Amino acid sequence: MKVAVLGYGTVGKGVHDLLIDAPGFEAGPVLEKEERPDLPFAVTDIDLILIDPTVDAVIEAIGGIDPAYTFGKKVLESGKHLVTSNKMLVAAKGPELASLAEQNGVAFLFSAACGGAIPYLSNLQTAVNSGEEIVRLQGILNGTTNYILDRMQTDCVEFADALADAQKLGYAEADPSADLSGMDSIRKIMLACAVTYNELPVDGMDIEGITSFTREDAEHIKNLGYVCRLKTKAKLVENTLRAYVEPTLCPLGSIESSIRLNGNMASYTGNSCGMISLIGEGAGRYTTASSVLRDLEQIRRGKKIMIRPDCRRVTANNEDSMHRYYLRAPEHTVDDLLLTVYESGKITRGVTDKISVSFMHGFVNELRSQGYDVFFAAVERAH
Ligand SMILES: NC(=O)c1ccc[n+]([C@@H]2O[C@H](COP(=O)([O-])OP(=O)(O)OC[C@H]3O[C@@H](n4cnc5c(N)ncnc54)[C@H](OP(=O)(O)O)[C@@H]3O)[C@@H](O)[C@H]2O)c1
Repeated sequence: MKVAVLGYGTVGKGVHDLLIDAPGFEAGPVLEKEERPDLPFAVTDIDLILIDPTVDAVIEAIGGIDPAYTFGKKVLESGKHLVTSNKMLVAAKGPELASLAEQNGVAFLFSAACGGAIPYLSNLQTAVNSGEEIVRLQGILNGTTNYILDRMQTDCVEFADALADAQKLGYAEADPSADLSGMDSIRKIMLACAVTYNELPVDGMDIEGITSFTREDAEHIKNLGYVCRLKTKAKLVENTLRAYVEPTLCPLGSIESSIRLNGNMASYTGNSCGMISLIGEGAGRYTTASSVLRDLEQIRRGKKIMIRPDCRRVTANNEDSMHRYYLRAPEHTVDDLLLTVYESGKITRGVTDKISVSFMHGFVNELRSQGYDVFFAAVERAH
């Protein structure tokens, strides 16, 4: 199978390198923006790839929606398989691309878009196709935020220093806002929902990242016997899809507390199989490229799609997802909510009774709109 690559950045170069030695595969042309005399396999016109009858599959590794979507459509219309690592593209245009793939009798796969090297989506799809009823999806799906949280809690470094180290190590992008805000994590769970439930949540998700977390929060949480992780969760309950991401206090000794540095954990719970957790690296050149290669191998075995063309776009609703929350807020702003108060004074710290996810996110957003600095995290019990 001859494989072309669009984009020669972190993932694109990784895929091209792995293809050179992968048995049964041939590394084809690579689309670059500008002439690259140092790269004999580079082309700057995508049509050269589309009209090449020897190219069987194309990897989209440019990122973003445009021109990735336009290129992806052209690839499928030209009768070539499309594999992408681009969660933003699949979250926005997945059903359309799946439909085009079906019309043209080719494959559209995107395992690397959720979990990097972790074979999460493919495992989920196999489980669903084998009749497993998936009752819960959850995970630590962003390595950058996990690295920052872990360094702050293990090495007692400040947020800004942990972020700077993540950038130096290549975990965080120059603009890390999608990671820090939780957007990257929510896009990944959107894809997992589409694969699992044939429903793609496009709004209604509650999204909280890690930018409010401080060294003082880390210290206090540690003394309570917890570790803070950014957890993403989804489930389908009586035709209502719930999907959200938020800092979560996980008991010391839990699987989550053992996910260190830029590690990821992707779990699903099935009625028959119980909870299955896959642990590995969620990003990186060759880790992500290895996932793309596995998709190519699946295409060779006849696999065509990961989501169905009729995948419905839905609004998530987290009103009935309830749990206790840890809160740190200025004095007198959260008193009514707290069941247990740990600290009072200029700053209040405490834990609420069980309250709904949407209420909590809405409440904190309202406080922030009034200028208050607030940190909150769901409190989990041991599994
Ligand atoms: N990095 C990871 O570990 C990782 C993991 C999982 C998924 N992903 C996903 O994989 C995708 C690629 O990420 P990445 O980290 O590899 O990004 P990247 O390093 O920025 O690579 C993207 C490459 O595409 C090039 N490019 C942009 N527009 C192009 C065009 N019109 N024609 C040809 N090339 C073009 C860029 O060139 P310029 O730099 O000159 O613009 C860059 O070299 C993203 O969707 C990302 O979310 C990445």
